[in-house]
Amino acid sequence: MKALITAGGKGTRLRPLTHTQNKHLLPIANKPILYYALEKVAAAGITDVGIVTNREGTEVKEALGDGSKWGLKITYIPQQDPLGLAHVVKISQDFIGDEPFVFYLGDNMVVGGLEKFIRVFEASKTNCHLTLARVKDPERFGVPELKNNRIVAIEEKPSSPKSEFAVSGIYIYDKTIFEAVNHIKPSDRGELEISDAHQYLLDHNYQISYSEITGWWKDTGKPEDILEANRLILEHTKSSIAGTFDRESSVTGEVVLEEGAKIINSVVRGPVVVGRNTIIENSFLGPFTSIGEECLIKKSEVEFSIILNRCEINDVRVRIENSLLGHGARVVKATVRPKTHRFMVGDQSLIEMR
Ligand code: G1P
Repeated sequence: MKALITAGGKGTRLRPLTHTQNKHLLPIANKPILYYALEKVAAAGITDVGIVTNREGTEVKEALGDGSKWGLKITYIPQQDPLGLAHVVKISQDFIGDEPFVFYLGDNMVVGGLEKFIRVFEASKTNCHLTLARVKDPERFGVPELKNNRIVAIEEKPSSPKSEFAVSGIYIYDKTIFEAVNHIKPSDRGELEISDAHQYLLDHNYQISYSEITGWWKDTGKPEDILEANRLILEHTKSSIAGTFDRESSVTGEVVLEEGAKIINSVVRGPVVVGRNTIIENSFLGPFTSIGEECLIKKSEVEFSIILNRCEINDVRVRIENSLLGHGARVVKATVRPKTHRFMVGDQSLIEMR
């Protein structure tokens, strides 16, 4: 079995962070989103992986290299224009050949492994295995219609969804999917829709099986999405302490201190991840917080937040919560008069003051 992972797209929904970074490389619990997909594929015993990037894909290639870090052999497949997920499958036919494969949308995250889905796919001898997640807003996704525990139809972003399930971004196919993606026509938004390929399979009497999954995350365009992904991952994180904390500090719950991280006279209440060479001094870190590398947090309180590398939070008298700071952002006490709030804020940023 091979795997095909998407890593292109513009990430417009996660701006401003994606102005300077591919969304697949944004860190969740200090690890790029895309790494989670690679780890799961490797853990399922798959070694041959195609990564579909946008035209250049430079950033992704730099981050993943040849895949040997995960014991994988990566083939990069550039998609010249964003023409849809079924188009991604279509251009990957030469790479996949006749083998069954896992198609994994690199911006999806799931708790747990892929093995059980592969087992069900193989045991059921179907042509396609879909993973379904119960959601509040199915109209944003591919939605199955179910009858007697069988999928009888699939619609992409329907205005009146026929079930409360979304088709999540982990699919398993045999080679019949290529017949489907080579026959369907572009949708109104000009894309070859993966849901139309699934409907093609159903219309031509190919078999689709499914598993229901929990613990699934995908960016749906709300700012709090990425914090929710961080929560989901941190909830399953176990303590590991390579950094140090002094006797004056209290460190409780599951806490990851990467190499060179220092906690000085502070309270850290996990789950929390603190990156390499970051210093936390006279501060409080609350649950579900990820702090990147080489940050300084001093005389401040941070909770339920993601702070990327090289940030400084210094002498801020209100607790920072529900927040996302991009690389090298600084939130510091004003030291010169007049002591006003002073902002230097990039495009499409958000500041909420009390
Ligand atoms: C795509 C698919 C949709 C699926 C979703 C899962 O949506 O078209 O069927 O439910 O991924 O992540 P898009 O991200 O293009 O809106």
